Amino acid sequence: MNFENILLSQKEALAIITINRPKKLNALNKATIEELHEAFQVLDKDSSVKVIVITGSGEKAFVAGADISEFAHFTVDNGGKLAAKGQEMLFNYIENFSKPVIAAVNGFALGGGLELAMACHFRVASDNAKMGLPEVSLGVIPGYGGTQRLPQLIGKGNAMELIMTAGMISAEKAAALGLVNYVTTLEELMPLVEKLAGKIMRNSSVAISAAIKAVNANFEDGVDGFEVEISEFGNCFGTEDFREGTTAFLEKRKANFPGR
Ligand code: COA
Repeated sequence: MNFENILLSQKEALAIITINRPKKLNALNKATIEELHEAFQVLDKDSSVKVIVITGSGEKAFVAGADISEFAHFTVDNGGKLAAKGQEMLFNYIENFSKPVIAAVNGFALGGGLELAMACHFRVASDNAKMGLPEVSLGVIPGYGGTQRLPQLIGKGNAMELIMTAGMISAEKAAALGLVNYVTTLEELMPLVEKLAGKIMRNSSVAISAAIKAVNANFEDGVDGFEVEISEFGNCFGTEDFREGTTAFLEKRKANFPGR
């Protein structure tokens, strides 16, 4: 697969997507969003991939936001469509992806960059990372889900402050707020993500997809998350993974999940 703005590689069952526009601090232009969507579609079908990590190329930025040069001249209609298409193609797509997606935040994660990290299932940051939603300093608001996901992750008051001040916070502060799960050095960022991915991969991928659906249901309007949990829980009893997991436990051996 040939991409111009991203790199896609694989290390055993871990797929690594690197956003690769370092001269523009990996800003998300239209082409990059489309390539990311395409890459996720490929990874969805690839049964050799169990976990996905997204990171940025270079040592300075994860993603410094949506590409400002592409929307500076937009009309009201263009603006609404930009947000709607981006949310559908990438941000909501990642949030509801059936395989775990981890953001390895290796530098600036601003605007659309932080929104991308927040759409992932969880985040790990290096200690040089800086995070924020600076949109109101440009006269707009976050449009890729930031006004919704930031309060979910750090609470309404903290989110309001970060959005209103358009400020940046350090990785340590982000960890204290619950925005990232771990902070480590830049050198240790990928090894830590690989270690976490390794722990995830030992478990049933079918059960993990069901858990993603059930957890996300808590945040969907008009959906009863408890009902979704009951239904997904029930479905697990029909899987080969469930039979293998319970049998292995009773036989006092490690489970070898077929992923079905
Ligand atoms: N969109 C488009 N281009 C961007 C960008 C963005 N969001 N963020 C950075 N770039 C580009 C810069 O224009 C510059 O390009 P140039 O070399 O062709 O002039 C290049 O990336 C390097 O950025 P620069 O600003 O020179 O780096 P810096 O170290 O001085 O500052 C930041 C780093 C992150 C503080 C600064 O780039 C910035 O504020 N970026 C915009 C962040 C933002 O508002 N994001 C939200 C968008 S909705």
